[in-house]
Amino acid sequence: MSANETSRRPFIAGNWKMHKTAGEAAAYIARLKELLPSPLDADVAVAPTFVALPAALAAAQGSPIGIAAQNVFWEKSGAFTGEVSTAMLEDLGVTWVILGHSERRQYFGETDETVGRRLRAVLDGRMGPIVCVGERLEEREAGRTWEVLTAQLAGALDGVSPDEAGRLTLAYEPVWAIGTGRTATPEVAQEAHAFLRQELVKRFDKPIANSIRILYGGSVKPENAAGLLTLPDIDGALVGGASLEAEVFAKIIDFKGA
Ligand code: PGA
Repeated sequence: MSANETSRRPFIAGNWKMHKTAGEAAAYIARLKELLPSPLDADVAVAPTFVALPAALAAAQGSPIGIAAQNVFWEKSGAFTGEVSTAMLEDLGVTWVILGHSERRQYFGETDETVGRRLRAVLDGRMGPIVCVGERLEEREAGRTWEVLTAQLAGALDGVSPDEAGRLTLAYEPVWAIGTGRTATPEVAQEAHAFLRQELVKRFDKPIANSIRILYGGSVKPENAAGLLTLPDIDGALVGGASLEAEVFAKIIDFKGA
């Protein structure tokens, strides 16, 4: 048995990005509840936009579907127009939050340093952070993948204590595979995940590193999910486009049965 079969429960999260009104979010979740495999041997979450979070939480109540936010600001409150704090999300009942998604880095000025500040705020509260890392195509082609991932981890994780590390989820999302239909091959993905795991061993220790789930993201769909999610260091998926329809997302959640 590989390590993830013994100790890490798969985690399948859907990142809806800027899709779905509150009503659409509620209808989707009602449908997904009906489609969840039984027994369910994965943690499941979806990440609606901020404005759809209350409707999503109400629809998911009493089900195993967790609700994630797509971002959060690091200050507690104050004159920060347009921002949302960890306490506001916790008050609603949000349990997970995605940090450092490559679209935030690309379009909204997110840096390794600001990801670190957001992570600190989340760890000071109660939610589970899902920290995204991943290299761009030109970085991979220039042979800089490991350097980029190391810098992204440093920005996020410097200052995270071993106790706090147990609450982390990482997501490896090669930017060249996001929304492009170009999935990393299982070999390329496993190599990057194993690299990240080794970095976690260096930073914390082996038992802690082995307890942290590392999700793969980038054009995951029902057809390729099992090939990726059964690899030793891939512990789940962060799914964009293929999470937008409950029927398709349910097939990914059921990757073992597929
Ligand atoms: P994708 O997006 O599945 O549409 O490639 C993944 C992500 O951005 O998290």
